[in-house]
Amino acid sequence: MNDFAKEKYNKLKNIVDEHIDKYIEIVYPESVYKSMKYSLLAGGKRLRPVMAIETATILGASIEQIIPTAAAIEMLHCQSLIHDDLPCMDNDDFRRGKPTNHKVFGESTAVLAGDALLSFAPKIIIDKTQSSVKPETILKVLNEFFMAAGVDGIISGQIVDIDSEKKKISKETLDFIYEYKTARLFKLAVRSGAIIAGANEKQLEDLTKFAQYYGHAFQIYDDILDVTATLEEIGKTPGKDINAEKSTYVSMYGLDEAKKQALFLCDKACDILNSNNIKSEILIGIVEKISEGINKCS
Ligand code: IPE
Ligand code: IPE
Ligand code: MG
Ligand code: MG
Ligand code: MG
Repeated sequence: MNDFAKEKYNKLKNIVDEHIDKYIEIVYPESVYKSMKYSLLAGGKRLRPVMAIETATILGASIEQIIPTAAAIEMLHCQSLIHDDLPCMDNDDFRRGKPTNHKVFGESTAVLAGDALLSFAPKIIIDKTQSSVKPETILKVLNEFFMAAGVDGIISGQIVDIDSEKKKISKETLDFIYEYKTARLFKLAVRSGAIIAGANEKQLEDLTKFAQYYGHAFQIYDDILDVTATLEEIGKTPGKDINAEKSTYVSMYGLDEAKKQALFLCDKACDILNSNNIKSEILIGIVEKISEGINKCS
């Protein structure tokens, strides 16, 4: 990612952080609000909200119009992480360099904080967007949100991911997991940005394809980091996928082939941007971040 993109990315990330903090006020019963805020403000790259803002603004929307939706998408992502880390799921002790939510607040509060984020997020879209976005556009965004959050998205990816532990699965099943548990959320980010900006069908289709290639590359890179990185580098315990005998690109194809396939998907993602004249240093930059990371790790 070049310096210009880095600077812009950090500016948008700060705007996301400020709004997330502002939207959630700690009131009674404090424990659930504190648990929600703990994970939300524990760090994180803010990739999905930055992608939503970038997509919306390059297509002509204002930051004011997209920011509540961007924050809501990060809340949904954060909910998926809190639940993903639970002992009944991936059983992880660290997230974003800090103890996981259930380690600090206990399992029942972590489950409820996740549930709370899931319903808080769409309410933020409705409450904070209604003065600047048409009701029919808000409905379209909410439809995208609920699809990505439910059985048309993360839930189906997560259930097949868990069901595929300690099993030999087909390439199609593996791609299903990556598409649903990871890529659908990136699709939500760019599609909501595009919808709020009033994009046409062709633009929506191109951005959806971009998010698909990017999302699959992103998850493969995450799997690669699980076997190559340290706790300090990724903020979560490495080696967990092998211990749980997860089905991943690394376990199915080996590290070198997984790298090759992720790099191929990065190229496809960039091609979509270049051949459709989607000019965004940030979108190009986040793809480069994956390819640079893969080329560096051993
Ligand atoms: C982690 O996502 C979950 C995956 C899809 C692998 P991120 O790597 O974007 O996590 P944060 O938001 O930066 O913590
Ligand atoms: C990421 O799967 C997808 C979701 C969290 C929904 P992982 O289980 O690989 O994510 P990490 O490695 O725990 O961040
Ligand atoms: Mg998982
Ligand atoms: Mg996990
Ligand atoms: Mg992982």
